[in-house]
Formats: sequence, C-alpha cells, structure tokens
Amino acid sequence: MLELRALRCGYGLVEAVHGIDLNVRRGCITALLGPNGAGKTSTMMALAGRVAIQGGSVVFDGEDITRLSGGERTRRGMALAPEGRRLFADLSVGENLTVGGYTRSKADAARAQERVFGLFPRLAERVRQRAGSLSGGEQQMLAIGRALMSSPKMLLIDELSLGLMPAVVDSIFATLLALKAQGMTVLLVEQNVPRALRDADDVALLVAGRIVFTGPAQEARDSERLSALFLS
Ligand SMILES: Nc1ncnc2c1ncn2[C@@H]1O[C@H](COP(=O)(O)OP(=O)(O)OP(=O)(O)O)[C@@H](O)[C@H]1O
Ligand SMILES: [Mg+2]
Repeated sequence: MLELRALRCGYGLVEAVHGIDLNVRRGCITALLGPNGAGKTSTMMALAGRVAIQGGSVVFDGEDITRLSGGERTRRGMALAPEGRRLFADLSVGENLTVGGYTRSKADAARAQERVFGLFPRLAERVRQRAGSLSGGEQQMLAIGRALMSSPKMLLIDELSLGLMPAVVDSIFATLLALKAQGMTVLLVEQNVPRALRDADDVALLVAGRIVFTGPAQEARDSERLSALFLS
C-alpha cells in the first residue's frame, strides 16, 4: 500500500530522517517504533505532506505522491491523527469531525460521521461537547475519528496510547483491529512497545533517523535479542 524508498525529510538545513526504506502492507497494521527524537513524527508528518521531503520517494497505492501536497494526499486516501492530537479545543466534537470531512460532499461527510459514531459511540454521546473538555481517551478517539472523516484507505496515527489508561488503550486498539478487518491499512507510532509487538502485523525500528529493523511483529516478539533491541 505504501512504499518509502530512501526517504529523507527534515526542517530546512536539518535532516531528521536519513534515507529510510519501508513497506506498509495493505490491510495490515505496521508499528513504527523507536526512542525519543528518532524521527518517527518527522516521518509521519512527511507522509502526510506536512514536513518537507528532502530526498527519496513515497509511493501510495501505486502512485508516486512524493511531490503532492497534504490536501492531495488526503484526497487520495491518506489521513493522519497527529502527535498531540491537535484538536480544535473550542470547537465541539461534531465541528471537529466536520473539519476532518472538509474535502467531502455534505452527504458523504454525513455517512462518514455515522461510521465514526459506530466505531466510537462515546463521540456520538458527546457530539455537542467542547473538544477541549473531553477526557484524554475521548480526545484520541476524536483525533482518529476526525482522520476517518475523509474515508481514508490508510490511517496514520502518531502516539496512539500516550498518556492514556490501559483500558482506554485496549478499546482504541480493538477499534483499530475492527477497522483492519474492514480492510483499513494502518501505520502507527507507539511508545508502548509490548502493546505494539502484540497487535501489529509488522514493525519497524527507527533509531537516529535510520531504520535498524523491519519485519513481522511476531519475529520481534519471539526473538529475545530483537525484543531487547526494541525495548532499549
Ligand atoms: N520543527 C522542527 N524544527 C527543527 N527540528 C525539528 C523539528 N521537529 C523535530 N525536529 C528534530 O527532528 C528530530 C526528530 O524528531 P521527531 O519529532 O521526528 O522524533 P520522534 O521520534 O517523533 O520523537 P518523540 O518520540 O519524542 O515524539 C529531532 O532531532 C528533533 O529535534
Ligand atoms: Mg514524535
């Protein structure tokens, strides 16, 4: 579904990611793991068209999207729930979702919103509540729901579980597995390594802007050497 070839990205003269190769398989959950400052967010933002790509290429669903804008990537079916969630705190749940569906017709956005409410009933109950007054877990649901409003083929989630209670994380991962069962492709960044190794199909370990391992999550789970590497 997504192929990164020798991807370089960063900020002005500073390169944060130094030429990474990564394949994200269609209909699978891939976890991008690595220590603070490794370049995970830079990679996710570059994929979403919000951080400059300085070299290499990105092929999404058979099309080279390296030079496309963020909006053009959204229209082709890629959506990001960014680190820190970036909700509009003073807008309601419903208004935040409307923003996520800005590229769609009214009828399509209404259908997408019904689907989001089916996945996250908590959001339906709080449709008029200010996003800033939601719990952390509800805010993460809203950030994912807003991304789903464009009915993407692929969902990028940066820091899925950060700051959330285990029960809430369980519920969000269960929703991701339900989305996967409907054919969704997911690339997520996750600090909780055991959790990611358990629920992802594939994993990639990014250290200091370079990929040091990619492969099936099961391989990383079953090998003591790899588990230790991922947890270090
Ligand atoms: N806006 C920016 N301007 C300049 N450098 C930046 C900017 N954002 C990030 N960087 C640098 O890029 C590198 C990678 O940062 P990035 O946020 O991608 O890491 P990360 O793996 O997401 O870390 P974390 O786990 O802490 O979220 C770091 O050296 C960081 O200082
Ligand atoms: Mg980050």
